[in-house]
Amino acid sequence: MVDLSVDLGFLKLKNPVMAASGTFGYGLEFQPLYNLNLLGGLVVKGLYFKPREGNPPPRLAESPCGLINSIGLQGIGVEAFCREILPWLADLTTAVIANVCGEEEGEYARVAEYLSRHPGLAALELNISCPNVREGGKCPAQDPEATYRTVKRVRQASSLPLITKLSPNVTDITAVALAAQEAGSQAVSLVNTFLALAIDLESRKPKLGNVLGGLSGPAIKPLAMRMVFEVARKVKIPVIGLGGIFNYQDALEFMVAGASAVQVGTANFVNPQACPEIIKGIEDWAESQGIKRLSEIVGSLKF
Ligand code: SIN
Repeated sequence: MVDLSVDLGFLKLKNPVMAASGTFGYGLEFQPLYNLNLLGGLVVKGLYFKPREGNPPPRLAESPCGLINSIGLQGIGVEAFCREILPWLADLTTAVIANVCGEEEGEYARVAEYLSRHPGLAALELNISCPNVREGGKCPAQDPEATYRTVKRVRQASSLPLITKLSPNVTDITAVALAAQEAGSQAVSLVNTFLALAIDLESRKPKLGNVLGGLSGPAIKPLAMRMVFEVARKVKIPVIGLGGIFNYQDALEFMVAGASAVQVGTANFVNPQACPEIIKGIEDWAESQGIKRLSEIVGSLKF
């Protein structure tokens, strides 16, 4: 038997595989497909305080080995989530994490504070990295000072463990990761999507209603993994890796690069069974290698 568990310090996961925010609904949507308790964790769709309609359609465009989205964080808002969804999620034995959004620092804090008053959440993931909700794809995670301020504000508003989700649309992601750590984030997750443009040649119009979107999927995997590698060597807090993880080999490679755990995103759209298949693949691989504790491989890149 391989010990797949992951100790993030503030949270113990039964295995390193989590479903990524924005690709797994509020969890309920996947319940008919498999037992959600198989997962290490699941991160629900981003939550603002009020319901939000999101961006004008079209919101999705495919590209080779990738998906460009501009959903604009459509969602039901934190009150409806706590009333209608969280009581059901609270019965799961998997770690349930809420993805926290805000128009400004105060809203992030308000959402976090509201969520903290309701039982059932293992942690918060602070979404300061969505490229689809501000002019030109801007987001707080592009600026270490804005990151510090937002994390600090949320840290003061909630006692739940805090994971900060970082943007790849920066020159030096390690500076932002360090700012998140200094402000009290207990982990960082990276990366969110790469700011992208898809064009319809005939009409010469953007394929997305919001013009720009965020690229995810296998196309970004080597870039995301490089950033995980860089950040894991700089920070003291755990790193959660994501970006184009489609199979167990991808997940393990992120761990070798330095990720303590991983999130599976776009793969859920292509293969709704992706997460349980990846968990099984990881277990079989570790067994075949004679590995007793999977955490041994974290940051084991030889170079
Ligand atoms: C979106 O809803 O536009 C994507 C979410 C994200 O990138 O955080």
